[in-house]
This record gives sequence, structure tokens and C-alpha cells, in this order.
Amino acid sequence: MKNRKITLAPSLLAADFSKIGEQIKILEEAQVPYLHLDVMDGAFVPNISFGQPLIKSIRKVTEMFFDVHLMINNPERYIKSFADSGADLITIHFESTDKVSETLKEIRTLGKKAGLSIKPKTSPEAIKDLLPLCDLVLVMTVEPGFGGQKLISETLDSIRAVKGMRDEAGLSFEIEADGGIGADNVKAVYDAGAEVIVAGSSVLGRPDIKAAAEAIYSALED
Ligand code: DX5
Ligand code: ZN
Repeated sequence: MKNRKITLAPSLLAADFSKIGEQIKILEEAQVPYLHLDVMDGAFVPNISFGQPLIKSIRKVTEMFFDVHLMINNPERYIKSFADSGADLITIHFESTDKVSETLKEIRTLGKKAGLSIKPKTSPEAIKDLLPLCDLVLVMTVEPGFGGQKLISETLDSIRAVKGMRDEAGLSFEIEADGGIGADNVKAVYDAGAEVIVAGSSVLGRPDIKAAAEAIYSALED
């Protein structure tokens, strides 16, 4: 495998759900490490996607790292069940509950990595005190709810701010960016400070998934 600067996390939301097994195999052949799983409840976001039964069944066919992005209200209700379904990382939204710190702690207690996400209009400063509880911070680069949107350029400032807080505090959580990212703009997102890159329409939404993943890696080569 080439020396890759980013961890690519294709979002399953853009997949053809009648061919999930095959599409995961293609990602594995391309040595893509993460699978980003967008869980939506129709309340925190205006869209419904999938939940634990789907995650549990694809867990049986792959060793990929499952990056579960919970866009649901009061995620504390479901942490154990997502952990049991095979998540490796569980990311909750800062805006989705008043029990953020307890929930992040519970995720770690269950032996999983804990992620915290902010929507585009949430100030990164708002999560400053929570950063020691995070293994990953997910900066949304679009309003959560739908794939295929255009990246909001102001969110690159949020990525820079999160990176600044990480450096200042001497912490080592990963920084992930999600929404509207493809080969055309991944360099700007990476340069802002994100090392885990979610890509929905630009990978699993493309007819040649392997070539689409390669195009994103190539866009970062010097
Ligand atoms: C949006 C989701 C994203 C989405 C990304 O709410 O969190 O993960 O699937 O899709 P693209 O890359 O198409 O914006
Ligand atoms: Zn997502």
C-alpha cells in the first residue's frame, strides 16, 4: 500500500443497497480502511437511514473499521446496542443531547473509540472542555441529513480551530471531516487539518468505486 496521508472513510449512504456485500469487497481490495455508517432518525436530522440490524449483518462480512456516525436525538439510549452491533468508533453529536460527557465516557467504557461531532454552525470553542474525552472530533462540512451536498467553505475554519485546540492542549484525537468532499477539494480539507476524510457520493456513489477512491488519494500526492 502506498504511503497515504489520509484515512479514507467512504459513507455507505451512497452505496447501492442491493449490492452492499460486493461494494464492501471492492473497498477492501482498494485497501480502504474505514467504513462510515450514517445513522439518521428523522428527528435530529430530516432523513431516515438505517440502524443496528444493517450494521450487525455487514459486520459478518468485513473486518473494515466501522465508523458509526449517530445523527439521532439522545444517543445515550442506544450506545450499548450500537457497540454490540459491531461499531469500532461511535460518534455522537454535541447538539443531540445534554449528556455529552457521560455518553462519551460510556462509549470508551464499552471498549470503543469515542467521537464527537459538531454541525457547521456550532462553534468549535463549545466543545473545548470535552476534548480529553474524545478519540475523534468530526467536523461536519455540510448540514447533516443528506449526501450529495456542497461543502460549506467556512467549515474549514472550524477544522483549523479544532486542530489549534488539539495542539494547544497536547491531545491526540483524530480530526474527521464529513460532507461534500471529493478529489476536487480534499486537499483543502486535508490542509485545514482533517486526517480522516468521509466521502459519500464521490466514492460509493460512483460507477467505478476503486478508481474513485484512488482519485481521492491521488489528489493528495505531491
Ligand atoms: C451527511 C452524512 C454524510 C454523507 C456524506 O449527513 O453525515 O456522511 O453521507 O455524503 P457526501 O460525501 O455525498 O456529502
Ligand atoms: Zn456522516
